[in-house]
Amino acid sequence: MVAGYKVFNLDINNSTTEFFDGIQTKTLGINSNILGQTIRIHNGDDVKLVYHNNLDEPTTIHGHGMHVPAIMDGGPINKIQPHTTWIARYTVDQTACTNWYHPHLMGKTAEQVYRGLAGFIIIDDDTSDALNLPKTYGVDDIPVVLQDKFFDANGQIDYSPSRMQIMRGYTGGYMLANGVITPHIDVPAKKVRFRLLNGSNASLYKLELTNKHEFYQIATDNSFLEEPAKLTQLVLTPGERGEIVVDFSNDFNKSFILKDLTLGKEIMKIRVNKVATTYNQLPTELISLEKLDPANAVRTRKFILGMTQGHMTINGKSMDMMRIDELVPKDDIEIWDITNTMGMEHNFHIHATHFLPLERNGSPTNLTPAEHAYKDVIRLASHDNVKVIVKMTDFVDENTGYMYHCHFLEHEDDGMMGQFAVTNSEVAVNVGGQNTTGMGRNRGR
Ligand code: C2O
Ligand code: CU
Ligand code: CU
Repeated sequence: MVAGYKVFNLDINNSTTEFFDGIQTKTLGINSNILGQTIRIHNGDDVKLVYHNNLDEPTTIHGHGMHVPAIMDGGPINKIQPHTTWIARYTVDQTACTNWYHPHLMGKTAEQVYRGLAGFIIIDDDTSDALNLPKTYGVDDIPVVLQDKFFDANGQIDYSPSRMQIMRGYTGGYMLANGVITPHIDVPAKKVRFRLLNGSNASLYKLELTNKHEFYQIATDNSFLEEPAKLTQLVLTPGERGEIVVDFSNDFNKSFILKDLTLGKEIMKIRVNKVATTYNQLPTELISLEKLDPANAVRTRKFILGMTQGHMTINGKSMDMMRIDELVPKDDIEIWDITNTMGMEHNFHIHATHFLPLERNGSPTNLTPAEHAYKDVIRLASHDNVKVIVKMTDFVDENTGYMYHCHFLEHEDDGMMGQFAVTNSEVAVNVGGQNTTGMGRNRGR
Protein backbone atom coordinates (compact mmCIF):
# COMPACT_ATOMS: atom_id res chain seq x y z
CA MET A 1 0.00 0.00 0.00
CA VAL A 2 1.36 3.40 -0.98
CA ALA A 3 -0.78 6.47 -0.36
CA GLY A 4 -4.01 4.50 -0.60
CA TYR A 5 -3.00 2.53 -3.69
CA LYS A 6 -2.20 -1.13 -3.89
CA VAL A 7 1.00 -0.88 -5.89
CA PHE A 8 2.37 -3.76 -7.91
CA ASN A 9 5.89 -3.40 -9.28
CA LEU A 10 6.12 -5.58 -12.33
CA ASP A 11 9.46 -6.12 -14.03
CA ILE A 12 9.32 -7.42 -17.58
CA ASN A 13 12.57 -9.28 -18.06
CA ASN A 14 14.66 -11.40 -20.36
CA SER A 15 15.45 -14.57 -18.50
CA THR A 16 16.10 -18.26 -18.90
CA THR A 17 14.20 -21.37 -17.91
CA GLU A 18 15.44 -24.95 -17.67
CA PHE A 19 12.77 -26.97 -19.50
CA PHE A 20 15.23 -29.71 -20.45
CA ASP A 21 18.05 -30.98 -18.19
CA GLY A 22 21.10 -28.80 -18.50
CA ILE A 23 19.67 -26.53 -21.19
CA GLN A 24 18.99 -22.87 -20.47
CA THR A 25 16.14 -21.75 -22.69
CA LYS A 26 15.66 -18.04 -23.28
CA THR A 27 12.28 -16.93 -21.92
CA LEU A 28 10.47 -13.74 -20.97
CA GLY A 29 8.91 -13.25 -17.56
CA ILE A 30 7.34 -10.69 -15.25
CA ASN A 31 8.82 -10.86 -11.74
CA SER A 32 9.61 -14.40 -12.76
CA ASN A 33 11.80 -16.26 -15.23
CA ILE A 34 8.75 -17.23 -17.27
CA LEU A 35 5.12 -16.01 -17.11
CA GLY A 36 4.07 -13.32 -14.64
CA GLN A 37 3.42 -13.18 -10.93
CA THR A 38 -0.27 -13.44 -10.02
CA ILE A 39 -1.86 -10.07 -9.30
CA ARG A 40 -4.57 -10.41 -6.66
CA ILE A 41 -6.99 -7.52 -6.20
CA HIS A 42 -10.39 -6.89 -4.65
CA ASN A 43 -13.39 -5.06 -6.07
CA GLY A 44 -13.10 -1.45 -4.88
CA ASP A 45 -9.30 -1.42 -4.61
CA ASP A 46 -7.36 1.53 -5.99
CA VAL A 47 -4.48 -0.05 -7.83
CA LYS A 48 -1.31 0.93 -9.64
CA LEU A 49 0.28 -1.66 -11.87
CA VAL A 50 3.76 -0.32 -12.51
CA TYR A 51 5.27 -2.07 -15.50
CA HIS A 52 9.02 -1.68 -16.07
CA ASN A 53 9.99 -2.81 -19.54
CA ASN A 54 13.53 -4.13 -19.15
CA LEU A 55 13.49 -5.64 -22.63
CA ASP A 56 15.34 -4.18 -25.61
CA GLU A 57 12.10 -4.12 -27.57
CA PRO A 58 8.79 -2.32 -27.02
CA THR A 59 5.82 -4.10 -25.54
CA THR A 60 2.43 -3.30 -24.02
CA ILE A 61 0.63 -5.07 -21.19
CA HIS A 62 -3.13 -5.42 -21.47
CA GLY A 63 -5.37 -6.35 -18.56
CA HIS A 64 -7.57 -8.94 -20.27
CA GLY A 65 -11.07 -8.81 -18.79
CA MET A 66 -10.47 -5.57 -16.92
CA HIS A 67 -13.16 -2.90 -16.99
CA VAL A 68 -10.91 0.17 -17.07
CA PRO A 69 -10.56 3.44 -19.03
CA ALA A 70 -9.18 3.02 -22.56
CA ILE A 71 -5.89 4.75 -21.71
CA MET A 72 -5.35 2.26 -18.87
CA ASP A 73 -6.24 -0.79 -20.97
CA GLY A 74 -2.74 -1.60 -22.18
CA GLY A 75 -3.81 -2.13 -25.77
CA PRO A 76 -1.54 -1.49 -28.77
CA ILE A 77 -1.66 2.26 -28.17
CA ASN A 78 -0.14 2.02 -24.68
CA LYS A 79 3.31 1.20 -26.01
CA ILE A 80 6.02 0.76 -23.37
CA GLN A 81 9.31 1.65 -25.01
CA PRO A 82 12.41 -0.35 -24.01
CA HIS A 83 13.71 0.57 -20.55
CA THR A 84 10.75 2.76 -19.68
CA THR A 85 7.84 2.42 -17.26
CA TRP A 86 4.11 2.48 -17.83
CA ILE A 87 1.54 2.64 -15.06
CA ALA A 88 -2.01 1.32 -15.23
CA ARG A 89 -3.88 3.15 -12.49
CA TYR A 90 -7.56 2.55 -11.76
CA THR A 91 -10.19 1.63 -9.24
CA VAL A 92 -11.26 -2.00 -9.55
CA ASP A 93 -14.94 -1.90 -10.43
CA GLN A 94 -16.06 -5.38 -11.32
CA THR A 95 -17.06 -8.63 -9.72
CA ALA A 96 -14.92 -11.63 -8.80
CA CYS A 97 -13.28 -13.45 -11.69
CA THR A 98 -10.08 -14.83 -13.12
CA ASN A 99 -8.54 -12.38 -15.57
CA TRP A 100 -5.08 -12.24 -17.01
CA TYR A 101 -2.48 -9.88 -18.42
CA HIS A 102 -0.40 -10.22 -21.56
CA PRO A 103 1.33 -8.12 -24.25
CA HIS A 104 -0.74 -6.51 -26.98
CA LEU A 105 1.85 -4.92 -29.25
CA MET A 106 0.73 -4.51 -32.86
CA GLY A 107 1.93 -7.48 -34.87
CA LYS A 108 3.97 -8.85 -31.98
CA THR A 109 1.41 -10.08 -29.47
CA ALA A 110 1.66 -13.71 -30.50
CA GLU A 111 5.42 -13.88 -30.30
CA GLN A 112 5.73 -12.09 -26.95
CA VAL A 113 3.08 -14.27 -25.33
CA TYR A 114 4.71 -17.37 -26.79
CA ARG A 115 8.09 -16.40 -25.34
CA GLY A 116 6.57 -16.23 -21.87
CA LEU A 117 4.66 -13.04 -21.16
CA ALA A 118 1.33 -13.78 -19.47
CA GLY A 119 0.07 -13.79 -15.89
CA PHE A 120 -3.10 -14.03 -13.84
CA ILE A 121 -5.13 -11.19 -12.37
CA ILE A 122 -7.47 -12.66 -9.77
CA ILE A 123 -10.29 -10.43 -8.58
CA ASP A 124 -12.14 -11.12 -5.34
CA ASP A 125 -15.28 -9.44 -4.10
CA ASP A 126 -17.65 -9.74 -1.15
CA THR A 127 -19.64 -12.47 -2.92
CA SER A 128 -16.60 -14.62 -3.63
CA ASP A 129 -15.29 -13.99 -0.09
CA ALA A 130 -18.57 -15.31 1.31
CA LEU A 131 -19.08 -18.31 -0.99
CA ASN A 132 -18.12 -21.65 0.44
CA LEU A 133 -15.60 -22.54 -2.27
CA PRO A 134 -12.01 -23.77 -2.11
CA LYS A 135 -9.94 -20.58 -1.85
CA THR A 136 -6.51 -21.35 -0.42
CA TYR A 137 -4.18 -20.18 -3.17
CA GLY A 138 -1.90 -22.92 -4.43
CA VAL A 139 -3.39 -25.52 -2.07
CA ASP A 140 -6.99 -26.06 -3.13
CA ASP A 141 -7.38 -23.00 -5.38
CA ILE A 142 -4.91 -23.44 -8.19
CA PRO A 143 -4.52 -21.17 -11.20
CA VAL A 144 -3.23 -23.07 -14.22
CA VAL A 145 -2.31 -21.46 -17.52
CA LEU A 146 -2.33 -23.98 -20.35
CA GLN A 147 -0.06 -23.50 -23.34
CA ASP A 148 1.77 -25.47 -25.99
CA LYS A 149 5.15 -24.65 -27.47
CA PHE A 150 7.61 -25.74 -30.08
CA PHE A 151 11.29 -25.91 -29.18
CA ASP A 152 14.13 -26.06 -31.71
CA ALA A 153 17.00 -28.56 -31.79
CA ASN A 154 18.92 -26.41 -29.27
CA GLY A 155 16.04 -26.43 -26.80
CA GLN A 156 15.14 -22.83 -27.55
CA ILE A 157 11.56 -21.64 -27.98
CA ASP A 158 10.76 -21.76 -31.67
CA TYR A 159 8.35 -19.10 -32.81
CA SER A 160 8.44 -19.28 -36.59
CA PRO A 161 4.95 -19.78 -37.97
CA SER A 162 4.61 -20.43 -41.68
CA ARG A 163 1.81 -18.74 -43.60
CA MET A 164 -0.12 -22.00 -43.24
CA GLN A 165 0.45 -22.02 -39.47
CA ILE A 166 -0.72 -18.42 -39.21
CA MET A 167 -3.93 -19.58 -40.85
CA ARG A 168 -4.39 -22.92 -39.15
CA GLY A 169 -2.86 -21.95 -35.84
CA TYR A 170 0.67 -22.17 -34.44
CA THR A 171 -0.23 -25.14 -32.34
CA GLY A 172 1.54 -28.29 -31.14
CA GLY A 173 4.89 -29.26 -29.66
CA TYR A 174 5.10 -29.61 -25.89
CA MET A 175 2.23 -29.01 -23.49
CA LEU A 176 2.95 -26.69 -20.59
CA ALA A 177 1.05 -25.89 -17.44
CA ASN A 178 2.24 -22.79 -15.61
CA GLY A 179 5.36 -22.73 -17.78
CA VAL A 180 6.38 -26.30 -16.94
CA ILE A 181 6.32 -29.20 -19.39
CA THR A 182 3.79 -31.81 -18.15
CA PRO A 183 4.19 -31.06 -14.41
CA HIS A 184 2.55 -32.77 -11.45
CA ILE A 185 0.74 -31.26 -8.52
CA ASP A 186 -0.05 -32.79 -5.13
CA VAL A 187 -3.52 -31.99 -3.86
CA PRO A 188 -5.60 -32.87 -0.79
CA ALA A 189 -8.35 -35.50 -0.97
CA LYS A 190 -11.17 -32.96 -1.04
CA LYS A 191 -12.76 -30.51 -3.42
CA VAL A 192 -10.09 -28.64 -5.34
CA ARG A 193 -10.62 -25.62 -7.56
CA PHE A 194 -8.63 -25.05 -10.73
CA ARG A 195 -8.72 -21.70 -12.48
CA LEU A 196 -7.92 -22.84 -16.01
CA LEU A 197 -6.77 -20.31 -18.58
CA ASN A 198 -6.16 -21.17 -22.20
CA GLY A 199 -3.05 -19.02 -22.63
CA SER A 200 -2.05 -20.66 -25.88
CA ASN A 201 -1.61 -18.79 -29.11
CA ALA A 202 -4.06 -20.76 -31.18
CA SER A 203 -5.03 -24.09 -29.63
CA LEU A 204 -8.57 -25.06 -28.84
CA TYR A 205 -8.28 -27.33 -25.81
CA LYS A 206 -10.81 -30.06 -25.09
CA LEU A 207 -9.99 -30.89 -21.50
CA GLU A 208 -10.75 -34.10 -19.70
CA LEU A 209 -9.52 -35.94 -16.59
CA THR A 210 -8.56 -39.63 -16.40
CA ASN A 211 -11.62 -41.91 -16.58
CA LYS A 212 -13.70 -38.86 -17.39
CA HIS A 213 -13.73 -37.92 -13.71
CA GLU A 214 -16.56 -35.44 -13.39
CA PHE A 215 -16.14 -31.87 -12.23
CA TYR A 216 -18.23 -28.76 -11.80
CA GLN A 217 -17.63 -25.59 -13.72
CA ILE A 218 -18.29 -22.69 -11.35
CA ALA A 219 -17.05 -19.69 -13.30
CA THR A 220 -16.26 -18.53 -16.80
CA ASP A 221 -14.32 -15.47 -18.03
CA ASN A 222 -15.89 -12.71 -15.96
CA SER A 223 -18.36 -14.20 -13.54
CA PHE A 224 -19.53 -17.19 -11.64
CA LEU A 225 -22.17 -19.33 -13.31
CA GLU A 226 -25.52 -19.04 -11.58
CA GLU A 227 -25.18 -22.64 -10.51
CA PRO A 228 -22.33 -25.15 -10.87
CA ALA A 229 -22.48 -27.09 -14.16
CA LYS A 230 -21.61 -30.78 -13.96
CA LEU A 231 -19.25 -31.73 -16.80
CA THR A 232 -16.71 -34.30 -17.86
CA GLN A 233 -15.21 -32.17 -20.64
CA LEU A 234 -14.41 -28.49 -20.93
CA VAL A 235 -13.60 -26.66 -24.15
CA LEU A 236 -11.50 -23.52 -23.88
CA THR A 237 -10.42 -21.44 -26.86
CA PRO A 238 -7.48 -19.02 -26.58
CA GLY A 239 -8.06 -16.38 -23.91
CA GLU A 240 -11.02 -18.15 -22.26
CA ARG A 241 -11.06 -19.11 -18.61
CA GLY A 242 -12.97 -21.83 -16.85
CA GLU A 243 -12.96 -22.32 -13.10
CA ILE A 244 -13.72 -25.89 -12.15
CA VAL A 245 -14.08 -27.74 -8.85
CA VAL A 246 -13.09 -31.40 -8.78
CA ASP A 247 -14.14 -33.53 -5.82
CA PHE A 248 -11.22 -35.79 -4.90
CA SER A 249 -12.75 -36.86 -1.54
CA ASN A 250 -12.91 -40.50 -2.59
CA ASP A 251 -9.64 -40.48 -4.51
CA PHE A 252 -6.95 -40.58 -1.82
CA ASN A 253 -3.73 -42.07 -3.23
CA LYS A 254 -4.98 -41.92 -6.80
CA SER A 255 -3.52 -39.90 -9.67
CA PHE A 256 -5.29 -38.20 -12.52
CA ILE A 257 -4.07 -36.80 -15.80
CA LEU A 258 -5.52 -33.61 -17.18
CA LYS A 259 -5.39 -34.13 -20.91
CA ASP A 260 -6.29 -32.27 -24.05
CA LEU A 261 -8.17 -34.31 -26.62
CA THR A 262 -7.55 -31.88 -29.50
CA LEU A 263 -3.79 -32.24 -29.62
CA GLY A 264 -4.06 -35.62 -27.89
CA LYS A 265 -1.56 -34.72 -25.20
CA GLU A 266 -1.20 -34.96 -21.45
CA ILE A 267 -1.02 -31.60 -19.71
CA MET A 268 -0.41 -32.33 -16.06
CA LYS A 269 -0.64 -35.01 -13.42
CA ILE A 270 -2.74 -34.45 -10.33
CA ARG A 271 -1.69 -36.64 -7.37
CA VAL A 272 -4.25 -36.86 -4.60
CA ASN A 273 -1.89 -37.61 -1.76
CA LYS A 274 -2.54 -35.08 0.99
CA VAL A 275 -4.99 -35.68 3.79
CA ALA A 276 -7.81 -33.17 3.75
CA THR A 277 -8.43 -31.14 6.86
CA THR A 278 -11.46 -29.27 5.62
CA TYR A 279 -14.48 -30.28 3.66
CA ASN A 280 -16.40 -27.99 1.32
CA GLN A 281 -19.95 -28.66 0.34
CA LEU A 282 -20.29 -27.10 -3.10
CA PRO A 283 -23.04 -24.46 -3.02
CA THR A 284 -25.99 -25.37 -5.26
CA GLU A 285 -26.43 -21.72 -6.20
CA LEU A 286 -23.50 -19.41 -6.71
CA ILE A 287 -24.81 -16.06 -7.84
CA SER A 288 -27.80 -14.42 -9.41
CA LEU A 289 -26.71 -12.59 -12.55
CA GLU A 290 -28.25 -9.34 -13.65
CA LYS A 291 -29.22 -9.84 -17.27
CA LEU A 292 -29.87 -7.17 -19.88
CA ASP A 293 -33.11 -7.56 -21.80
CA PRO A 294 -32.61 -7.89 -25.59
CA ALA A 295 -35.93 -6.05 -26.02
CA ASN A 296 -34.12 -2.95 -24.74
CA ALA A 297 -31.36 -3.13 -27.33
CA VAL A 298 -31.18 0.01 -29.47
CA ARG A 299 -29.17 -1.41 -32.34
CA THR A 300 -27.40 -4.43 -33.73
CA ARG A 301 -23.78 -4.24 -34.78
CA LYS A 302 -22.47 -6.85 -37.17
CA PHE A 303 -18.99 -8.30 -37.21
CA ILE A 304 -17.93 -10.58 -40.04
CA LEU A 305 -14.79 -12.63 -39.55
CA GLY A 306 -13.31 -13.54 -42.90
CA MET A 307 -10.49 -13.36 -45.39
CA THR A 308 -9.78 -10.29 -47.49
CA GLN A 309 -6.82 -10.10 -49.88
CA GLY A 310 -5.06 -12.95 -48.20
CA HIS A 311 -5.39 -11.63 -44.66
CA MET A 312 -7.79 -12.32 -41.85
CA THR A 313 -10.12 -9.42 -41.34
CA ILE A 314 -13.20 -8.16 -39.52
CA ASN A 315 -15.87 -6.58 -41.74
CA GLY A 316 -13.39 -6.81 -44.60
CA LYS A 317 -10.84 -4.57 -42.85
CA SER A 318 -7.40 -5.23 -41.42
CA MET A 319 -6.58 -3.63 -38.09
CA ASP A 320 -5.38 -0.04 -38.48
CA MET A 321 -4.10 1.76 -35.40
CA MET A 322 -5.14 5.08 -36.96
CA ARG A 323 -8.76 4.09 -37.53
CA ILE A 324 -11.56 3.80 -35.00
CA ASP A 325 -13.98 1.36 -36.59
CA GLU A 326 -16.96 1.64 -34.28
CA LEU A 327 -18.34 4.41 -32.11
CA VAL A 328 -20.35 2.93 -29.28
CA PRO A 329 -22.47 5.27 -27.17
CA LYS A 330 -22.08 4.76 -23.45
CA ASP A 331 -24.97 2.97 -21.73
CA ASP A 332 -26.71 1.94 -24.96
CA ILE A 333 -27.72 -1.70 -24.94
CA GLU A 334 -26.55 -3.31 -28.17
CA ILE A 335 -26.59 -6.70 -29.81
CA TRP A 336 -23.28 -7.66 -31.33
CA ASP A 337 -23.91 -10.16 -34.08
CA ILE A 338 -20.72 -12.02 -34.95
CA THR A 339 -20.29 -14.38 -37.90
CA ASN A 340 -17.44 -16.66 -38.76
CA THR A 341 -17.53 -17.00 -42.56
CA MET A 342 -14.61 -19.40 -42.63
CA GLY A 343 -14.36 -23.18 -42.39
CA MET A 344 -12.12 -22.99 -39.33
CA GLU A 345 -12.16 -21.98 -35.67
CA HIS A 346 -12.04 -18.37 -34.52
CA ASN A 347 -13.22 -16.58 -31.42
CA PHE A 348 -14.13 -13.01 -30.55
CA HIS A 349 -12.88 -10.96 -27.63
CA ILE A 350 -14.14 -7.55 -26.59
CA HIS A 351 -12.13 -5.24 -24.35
CA ALA A 352 -13.58 -3.06 -21.57
CA THR A 353 -16.82 -4.91 -21.07
CA HIS A 354 -18.39 -8.24 -20.22
CA PHE A 355 -21.11 -9.58 -22.43
CA LEU A 356 -23.83 -12.14 -22.11
CA PRO A 357 -24.24 -14.57 -25.02
CA LEU A 358 -27.83 -14.76 -26.31
CA GLU A 359 -27.72 -17.42 -28.98
CA ARG A 360 -25.52 -19.48 -31.24
CA ASN A 361 -26.69 -20.32 -34.76
CA GLY A 362 -30.12 -18.98 -34.02
CA SER A 363 -30.79 -20.68 -30.72
CA PRO A 364 -29.90 -20.27 -27.06
CA THR A 365 -29.89 -24.06 -26.73
CA ASN A 366 -26.62 -24.12 -28.68
CA LEU A 367 -24.87 -22.25 -25.89
CA THR A 368 -22.81 -24.15 -23.30
CA PRO A 369 -23.59 -23.80 -19.57
CA ALA A 370 -20.67 -21.39 -19.21
CA GLU A 371 -22.10 -19.20 -21.97
CA HIS A 372 -25.05 -18.34 -19.74
CA ALA A 373 -22.72 -16.15 -17.67
CA TYR A 374 -20.54 -13.11 -18.32
CA LYS A 375 -17.78 -13.58 -20.83
CA ASP A 376 -15.21 -11.57 -22.74
CA VAL A 377 -14.25 -14.22 -25.31
CA ILE A 378 -16.67 -16.37 -27.25
CA ARG A 379 -15.92 -19.33 -29.49
CA LEU A 380 -16.92 -19.23 -33.16
CA ALA A 381 -16.51 -22.67 -34.64
CA SER A 382 -16.50 -23.03 -38.41
CA HIS A 383 -19.36 -20.94 -39.90
CA ASP A 384 -20.86 -20.14 -36.49
CA ASN A 385 -22.94 -17.08 -35.78
CA VAL A 386 -23.31 -15.81 -32.23
CA LYS A 387 -25.27 -12.93 -30.80
CA VAL A 388 -24.22 -11.34 -27.54
CA ILE A 389 -25.72 -8.47 -25.57
CA VAL A 390 -23.36 -5.67 -24.60
CA LYS A 391 -23.41 -2.36 -22.80
CA MET A 392 -20.43 -0.05 -22.55
CA THR A 393 -20.47 1.75 -19.23
CA ASP A 394 -18.53 4.39 -17.31
CA PHE A 395 -15.61 5.35 -19.52
CA VAL A 396 -16.13 7.78 -22.38
CA ASP A 397 -13.07 8.52 -24.49
CA GLU A 398 -13.83 9.34 -28.09
CA ASN A 399 -10.20 9.40 -29.12
CA THR A 400 -8.87 6.24 -27.61
CA GLY A 401 -9.81 2.86 -28.98
CA TYR A 402 -10.53 -0.36 -27.21
CA MET A 403 -9.93 -3.51 -29.22
CA TYR A 404 -12.14 -6.30 -30.40
CA HIS A 405 -10.46 -9.20 -32.09
CA CYS A 406 -10.02 -12.87 -32.65
CA HIS A 407 -7.92 -14.18 -29.74
CA PHE A 408 -6.14 -16.75 -31.90
CA LEU A 409 -3.02 -14.62 -31.65
CA GLU A 410 -1.67 -15.28 -35.13
CA HIS A 411 -5.04 -14.17 -36.53
CA GLU A 412 -5.02 -11.04 -34.37
CA ASP A 413 -1.50 -10.17 -35.52
CA ASP A 414 -2.54 -10.85 -39.11
CA GLY A 415 -5.17 -8.10 -38.83
CA MET A 416 -8.31 -9.74 -37.43
CA MET A 417 -8.83 -6.89 -35.01
CA GLY A 418 -10.62 -3.55 -34.88
CA GLN A 419 -11.13 -0.62 -32.55
CA PHE A 420 -14.16 0.91 -30.94
CA ALA A 421 -14.41 4.10 -28.93
CA VAL A 422 -17.02 4.74 -26.26
CA THR A 423 -18.74 8.06 -26.87
CA ASN A 424 -21.26 10.03 -24.91
CA SER A 425 -24.74 9.27 -26.12
CA GLU A 426 -25.27 12.52 -28.06
CA VAL A 427 -22.74 11.88 -30.81
CA ALA A 428 -23.37 10.37 -34.21
CA VAL A 429 -23.57 6.63 -34.10
CA ASN A 430 -21.28 4.66 -36.30
CA VAL A 431 -21.97 1.07 -37.21
CA GLY A 432 -19.65 -1.11 -39.27
CA GLY A 433 -17.42 1.85 -40.04
CA GLN A 434 -20.24 3.87 -41.58
CA ASN A 435 -21.79 6.91 -40.02
CA THR A 436 -25.44 6.24 -39.47
CA THR A 437 -26.36 9.23 -37.42
CA GLY A 438 -29.20 8.57 -35.11
CA MET A 439 -29.92 5.16 -36.52
CA GLY A 440 -32.21 3.29 -34.20
CA ARG A 441 -31.37 5.63 -31.41
CA ASN A 442 -34.87 5.92 -30.06
CA ARG A 443 -36.00 2.41 -30.59
CA GLY A 444 -37.10 0.78 -27.39
CA ARG A 445 -36.83 3.92 -25.31
CU1 C2O B 1 -6.42 -10.95 -24.23
CU2 C2O B 1 -7.12 -7.84 -26.70
O1 C2O B 1 -6.72 -9.40 -25.46
CU1 CU C 1 -8.56 -8.17 -23.62
CU1 CU D 1 -9.23 -16.32 -35.61
